[in-house]
Amino acid sequence: MTGIRRERPGTPEARRYSRRDFLKVGGAGLAGTALLGAAGCGGGGSGSGNLVFTMGTDTSGTLQGLIDKFNKENKGKLKVTYREMPTDTGQYFDKIKTEFQAGQSNIDIIGGDVIWTAQMAANGWVLDVTDRFPKSEQSKYLPAPIESLTYDDKIWGKPWFTDAGLLFYRADLLEKSGFSEPPQTWMELQEMAEKVMQDQGIKYGIVFQGSNYEGGVCNALEYVWTHGGDVLDGDEVIIDSPETVAGLETQRGFVTDGLAPEGVSTYTETETDPAFLGGDTVFARNWSYMYALAGTSDYPDVTPEKIGVTSIPTVEGAPKANCQGGWNLLISANSDLQEEAWEFVQWMSAEPAQKERALSATLLPTRTSLYDDPEVNEKVPTTVVAKTALTNAKPRPVSPYYSDMSLEMSEQFNTSLKGDESPEAAVKTLQDSLQQIVEQAS
Ligand code: GLC
Repeated sequence: MTGIRRERPGTPEARRYSRRDFLKVGGAGLAGTALLGAAGCGGGGSGSGNLVFTMGTDTSGTLQGLIDKFNKENKGKLKVTYREMPTDTGQYFDKIKTEFQAGQSNIDIIGGDVIWTAQMAANGWVLDVTDRFPKSEQSKYLPAPIESLTYDDKIWGKPWFTDAGLLFYRADLLEKSGFSEPPQTWMELQEMAEKVMQDQGIKYGIVFQGSNYEGGVCNALEYVWTHGGDVLDGDEVIIDSPETVAGLETQRGFVTDGLAPEGVSTYTETETDPAFLGGDTVFARNWSYMYALAGTSDYPDVTPEKIGVTSIPTVEGAPKANCQGGWNLLISANSDLQEEAWEFVQWMSAEPAQKERALSATLLPTRTSLYDDPEVNEKVPTTVVAKTALTNAKPRPVSPYYSDMSLEMSEQFNTSLKGDESPEAAVKTLQDSLQQIVEQAS
């Protein structure tokens, strides 16, 4: 998740096992039940007025603060408990999937990644809220998060906060080396980075999330898209193209040319923050949340004034593309307290709660009105860039089998980034494996 994350994801092997395994378990599998026991979750945990809300780690502290506020306002009536889930979206998804497949979940409200909706809806794990959330209300939110919640012509939750991959840059360093504007293309980025590294002894040119996990998929897809490649055209897998190969070559090239550290193939957001905010790199690709950490006690030197934020670069003539991320609020189909859960969803997705999260954690709101709020624009400059970045934001493939597709992509993209396989070979492998998944789905 966007997180102001502190946890390290588990080993790719562990993740690979669990995600594959549970995708194959159609219903309540033995493995699922065993894990559920280990996690200590009973079944149908909603007591009277007691709601369980799941979300990944939130070290910004703003989430618990808001929940406390909701609980105070609803004292004697409703009480929401935050059940903290893994920071890594893939691990978090595995966990709830296991519980839902076993038919034993105590969750009422789910803070869910935008990529989960199709799979959760297709499996009947979340509530269809089409009647509760009419088009007149939907129009108050950005279109992309609404789309991310739409599956089978129904809507399955409310938008919470949104994300788009952003390019953070050290405006102070660029200026010192004679650059007044951030790069528009990957080539310009390389030239600028090399000059600043040389002039000012900065260790790296760029860092990003290259590890074998969901964030690695988002990052690699940005290289693919901005070189004119894509994954699907309708139901057809089109990933094996010269454009995709060129995208992965640019990404790998940053490592071989010494702009990105070798270790970037193990980087998640957690490793990106200290590299950029600790002053080791000129550029970093990350989500909006990182802005809130600038100039804090962990990173006192790289203050917000030194940082610029812009859209992901592209190549001449290719489209701009920022990976669409973000998190929604969904209600468990198993919850005994769906009306009460909806009250919480309404409250959390409303303007005041969204504004508070934007101001204190620089998370991008999904309410359109907040993009014209002067206080938000001033304190959260990423909202200004996001106006363009969100227009260019591109969703990852929408499929009830997305988690399976992502697993294949994260593995191959990571293999290519590490140089263990050529981009051509990685893309050929992906063409076959994604095709099989798509065929299985149809
Ligand atoms: C951010 C995005 C989410 C994405 C994740 C990958 O949390 O909001 O959509 O899947 O990063 O790490």
